[in-house]
Amino acid sequence: MVKISIIGTGYVGLPTGVNFANLGNEVICMDKDAAKIEKLNAGKTVLYENELPELFNKVLKSGKLKFTTQMLVAADAELIFITVGTPINPETKEADLQYIRAVASELAPLLTGYKIIVIKSTVPVGTGAEVANLIHTINPQAEFDVVSIPEFLREGFAIYDLQNPDRIVIGSDSERPLAKLKELYEPWKGRSHLLFTKRESAELIKYASNAFLAMKISYINEISDLCEQCGADIEDIAKGIGLDSRIGHKFLRTGPGYGGSCFPKDTNALYMIANKFGVEMSLVATTIKRNEARKVAMARRINNYIVNINSPVVAVWGLAFKADTDDVRDSPAIEIVNNLLGINYAVTIKAFDPQAMENARTLLGNKVSYCPDLYAAVEGADILAVLTDWHEFAEADFAKVASHMRNKLIVDVRNLLNEEKLKQLGFVYNRLGKRQND
Ligand code: UDX
Repeated sequence: MVKISIIGTGYVGLPTGVNFANLGNEVICMDKDAAKIEKLNAGKTVLYENELPELFNKVLKSGKLKFTTQMLVAADAELIFITVGTPINPETKEADLQYIRAVASELAPLLTGYKIIVIKSTVPVGTGAEVANLIHTINPQAEFDVVSIPEFLREGFAIYDLQNPDRIVIGSDSERPLAKLKELYEPWKGRSHLLFTKRESAELIKYASNAFLAMKISYINEISDLCEQCGADIEDIAKGIGLDSRIGHKFLRTGPGYGGSCFPKDTNALYMIANKFGVEMSLVATTIKRNEARKVAMARRINNYIVNINSPVVAVWGLAFKADTDDVRDSPAIEIVNNLLGINYAVTIKAFDPQAMENARTLLGNKVSYCPDLYAAVEGADILAVLTDWHEFAEADFAKVASHMRNKLIVDVRNLLNEEKLKQLGFVYNRLGKRQND
């Protein structure tokens, strides 16, 4: 049993705390947001995540998981995890480290006895060293090590990924924290690779992984564009190349471009990190550029079908950046909606998302109308745009959808729906990576 504190209760911090508590550790989650802590104390999970509510309730009852707004309480643990956000700085495109620095500055004077400070937030190479210097400057007596253990979980599958990680990367320049960290990660021994590296390597592994996956997506999206011109089908291509075990099937789904809180931010940050070291990362630069352009192209694609309709009504299914989350940060769906409204002033948008409506409202305000379910969204619509890959969209009753729509047009930028079924029902169906009339 290890005494752990987690600073920051977002999409990484909260599931991480729940998972460690479930393994019998004593966990205290700290967040400055008092309203959030109040909700968590009242048993509300505050974010949508598969498997989280059940596990959360279990550990809350066991007394292994507690919450606080006090840094002093968090500073008392043996292991202090920092899981605050490192959002993109919109001007410099670098990771914004203000929250990391604020935590380090607040923590520093409160440290007594030896502490292991783990940075789990995605941070540029050298941040571990910077945090260590900052703490040392504020409190020269503090006895501590700063370790980098990046988090690779996917939103929506946070609990599954925390319990079944492909690897756990532990970056430390000191031997001292390793025994305690080995004790903490003992339950994964033999089930997951434990990789010990230099601190800088651990920091870079996270960016290099995310950028590689983002590049894989931009690559398949380019091939998808080619398919639309040359008569091949991207679904066959993805299967055909994915069967090569050196390539693998994962992250070969064509779509509206990658989004979310990680890929867009981390590709930009990696480019900037390399730039600082005088290295030109042209593959990453192209990945970013292609991804940006794709969201504009998707809006044009939808608009092409409605450009000649007076006051067209567009039904939008999906606002989250992907299925299984309520997160709309850097969501392609939101950007497509904004782009569409920018190129066609006459358009009315009726939107539905199973989980992300509340978060989407903070970004889109009253630019769209929010519908209670997927059928309400298609009522009187000229076109249905499928923007997020929620399973329930594929399972919809399309005879009912057809009866609600003014024009039976569908643009599916997730290649989610059953093409043959839709054609039988008389829909004009457009998906990615296939010539329209094939
Ligand atoms: C990602 C990484 O997978 C995870 O390891 C890291 O810790 C955080 O960033 P996440 O952002 O939750 O996780 O989502 P992910 O499932 O990786 O999808 C990212 C984006 O890529 C989404 O917009 C998704 O729709 C898109 N995507 C993913 C594709 O367009 N095609 C694919 O084949 C896979």
